Amino acid sequence: GKVAVLMGGTSAEREVSKTMSGPGVLKALLSLGVDAHAFDPAERELVELKHEGFDRCFIALHGRHGEDGTVQGALELLGIPYTGSGVMASSIAMDKIMTKRLWLADGLPTPRYVKLAADQQTREHTRAVPDELGLPLFVKPPHEGSSMGATKVVGYSQMQEAVALAARYDSEVLCEEFIDGDELTCPVLGEGLNAVVLPVVRIQAPAGNYDYQNKYFTDSTRYLCPSGLPAEEEQEIQRIVLAAYLSLGCRGWGRADIMLRASDRKPFLLEMNTSPGMTSHSLVPISAKAAGLSYEQLCLWLLAHASL
Ligand code: DAL
Ligand code: MG
Repeated sequence: GKVAVLMGGTSAEREVSKTMSGPGVLKALLSLGVDAHAFDPAERELVELKHEGFDRCFIALHGRHGEDGTVQGALELLGIPYTGSGVMASSIAMDKIMTKRLWLADGLPTPRYVKLAADQQTREHTRAVPDELGLPLFVKPPHEGSSMGATKVVGYSQMQEAVALAARYDSEVLCEEFIDGDELTCPVLGEGLNAVVLPVVRIQAPAGNYDYQNKYFTDSTRYLCPSGLPAEEEQEIQRIVLAAYLSLGCRGWGRADIMLRASDRKPFLLEMNTSPGMTSHSLVPISAKAAGLSYEQLCLWLLAHASL
């Protein structure tokens, strides 16, 4: 059959999808003899997929209108199977606050947070947050990825600007307790009882700052897999990540981002990515490789598990 690799889109992470994840997936599928074509929903109507006889989609889009359940919903209506999570899990995982609510309800560890409305930008509103969460803290737009619009706030005076920046992306703002420790990530493949956790990756970014620049453009970010964590710690983290994936109802694949607190070695879930980056130095491919799955095999596996 004919496969569309959806890439680009309209989100703030458009460039990551269009120039890195999408071309990587397309190249891998073509190398395996799959009849694959690039398709950018920002340039064409999704309904054309139907007219042109595509019978499967590999979603290599990130962020809004790609990772958030909207494209998934359109493909459901068109009857074209797609990779990754369905409408509800995609939509919940795209919202870091909804995600936290479900995880907290299921007893899973995630950093404490305060939600502000985008218009709660006065000094009074923003000052109350560090009083509650301590400093430093993170201010994030809840529906963005790749650290877009996120600020690590180290002093009260930075709060208003950080909230104003996040509010440019979203109608609400997530203020999150800062967890000092190791930055980890861990992918999951599959669905329900068949879901499998892959090895944990430990990220060492320059000056501990894994921001947009250090995610995509710096050579000095180091990715350790095997993670070097004691086996019991790694297993405990994998257990939590699998529970977090199932808690949101994810399928196909996903990648949880985690902080491991240095003071007491307690893991905290930050978020679940349901359409993780697939650049050549991305995290899921690194972890899959350590588990014996090449980039090409990973793409083929995901495509084979495309569903409605
Ligand atoms: N949001 C980026 C693409 C990731 O999580 O890999
Ligand atoms: Mg993300």
